[in-house]
Amino acid sequence: MSVRSNVQSQILEAFNFRHATKIFDPDKKISDSEFETILEAGRLSPTSFGHEPFKVLVIQSPEMREHFRDFAWGANGMMNGSAGQLGTASHFGIILASTAETMTAGSDYLQHHYRSVKQLPDDVIDLFNGAYGKFQSTDHRVTSDREITDWSGKQAYIVLANMMTAAALMGIDSCPIEGFDMGLTTKVLSDHFDVDTAKWKPAVMFAFGHRADDPQFPKTRRSMAETVSWF
Ligand SMILES: Cc1cc2nc3c(=O)[nH]c(=O)nc-3n(C[C@H](O)[C@H](O)[C@H](O)COP(=O)(O)O)c2cc1C
Repeated sequence: MSVRSNVQSQILEAFNFRHATKIFDPDKKISDSEFETILEAGRLSPTSFGHEPFKVLVIQSPEMREHFRDFAWGANGMMNGSAGQLGTASHFGIILASTAETMTAGSDYLQHHYRSVKQLPDDVIDLFNGAYGKFQSTDHRVTSDREITDWSGKQAYIVLANMMTAAALMGIDSCPIEGFDMGLTTKVLSDHFDVDTAKWKPAVMFAFGHRADDPQFPKTRRSMAETVSWF
């Protein structure tokens, strides 16, 4: 088998291996170096305009995880009576999305980001301010706090997808989780995690670890013909 076809089969094997794991084996932890690789896959993800409008909270303390128990129904085993992903995942967390306060064109946060992170010269910063301002006001009409936070959330989902694929390539299981009450999660983040929720809102939760059992259901998907149109 050529190197290239070998990589293709490894990729497909990883995508078929990955499933939304409901219960992890609590005794099988991911190593620090494996989780660092997963985080690095997230950090290196593409984001629109390179704005990186996300942050990752990793929540390892069982007590801190319990703050979400009553309303993170997608992570708490409500449907199968187990401790769910919250209670069993080796690594659990939340990706936060930037709100309008940080991600509105011209914001102080973005000027700092262009200068300090992207290391852009002033004339290019002017171009970014203009192009992003037009993108928000005209092209995509993303102007309200909700719209801007949702736009940031889209970037957060790309981050999580890359983290899950990186994990799957290492034989590590995962679950993306949006089964939670947004308002109550925001309040917990503000009350217990020192998150400035005027600037950051929850986008999606995640769990990583090793499955306790084989998937309950076989993987089903629409056919390629139903999914893709060629022109
Ligand atoms: C954005 C997103 C949110 C999801 N939220 C949850 C969740 O809260 N709890 C859960 O157990 N699964 C959740 N899932 C998993 C999906 O139900 C699962 O990916 C889908 O049924 C396909 O199954 P598979 O991933 O095992 O192939 C979520 C998936 C995505 C992409």
